[in-house]
Amino acid sequence: MKIGLSTGGGDCPGLNSVIRAIVRYASATLGHEVIGIEDSFNGLLERPYKTRPLGLTDVSGILNRGGTILGTSNSGNPFKLKPGQDPKSCDKSQMVVDAYKDLGLDCIIVIGGDGTQRIASQFIKLGLNIIGIPKTIDNDLLQADFTTGFETAVEVASEAIIRLQSTAESHARIMVLEVMGRYAGHIALHSGIASGAHVILLPEIPFSYESIVKKVEERRQLCHNYSVVVVAEGAFEKGGEQVFQMRPSGKKNLGGIGQVVADKLSELTGSDSRITVLGHIQRGGEPCPRDRILGTLYGVKAVDMALKGEFSQVVVMHGHKLKAVSYQSIANGYRELEANDMYLDAAEAIGVCMGR
Ligand code: F6P
Repeated sequence: MKIGLSTGGGDCPGLNSVIRAIVRYASATLGHEVIGIEDSFNGLLERPYKTRPLGLTDVSGILNRGGTILGTSNSGNPFKLKPGQDPKSCDKSQMVVDAYKDLGLDCIIVIGGDGTQRIASQFIKLGLNIIGIPKTIDNDLLQADFTTGFETAVEVASEAIIRLQSTAESHARIMVLEVMGRYAGHIALHSGIASGAHVILLPEIPFSYESIVKKVEERRQLCHNYSVVVVAEGAFEKGGEQVFQMRPSGKKNLGGIGQVVADKLSELTGSDSRITVLGHIQRGGEPCPRDRILGTLYGVKAVDMALKGEFSQVVVMHGHKLKAVSYQSIANGYRELEANDMYLDAAEAIGVCMGR
């Protein structure tokens, strides 16, 4: 077989672990060809194509390397490209289909989050054989309990919270940490639990300042004159709205709620507050062992599916089992925390304030 391989969307730790597993299994163990496609589908829009054959030497030493050796992009949907100054978007998807045929690919394994997989599902409709692998630090892909990259982001955020605890205590301050996660609170919740945050604010639970102030006061009664608050970038006040930042490109990104919360808590409690925005540090660097293992499992399973011709499906880890699910079931929407999420219940059981 000739298997194409691409990484799309925002990068995350563990992508190289997936690439390595696919190349080692499909190419070195089974003798098939693996063609790396650079910069997501954009590599097939270029002429000459931005592709290269991948063998054992190409993936040697990348298991614990951050980022992706294939490059990635989270802009440039081939179905809606905005060329130059032309305000009208244009559809260049046929160029990708032509490249797929011209390269003689039997399938493409697409490693990506929901945006990339939505684009992939459109290519399936145009006749391409595609198998999906979920990745994103946000852990918000439908049907998947864990996406590659999430555990590392939780580890990075957890370490930051632990570090903030001691400086918060020394200065009797409120320390606010804003973490990523888009419209889902998985990173905030897991890292907050792991590191003893006193308040965790999530997009799924619009918060009230009253409840946060109550928590800060309760802690003061116990002679704990400091508090650590973890805020998901998508969190917002009850009756309020999510906070976005406008990029010079015109793209809107979630971000800024941490500063808003820190300022308001200063005003309401009289405590000095500081904000730390963790940003892309959550996405960079070495993947943790769990992400390297998950990436390896996902890669091997995707190759097995390719060999059996099980296309138009996405590999997911669900209930500690690897499963293949249909593209339709994951491509329209994202996975937020459910009301009865066991991590949420545990956090509340031990007295963490969720801003309710
Ligand atoms: O989806 C991953 C993610 O890191 C989100 O958590 C965050 O909102 C977004 O990507 C940031 O995107 P960009 O890399 O374009 O700033």
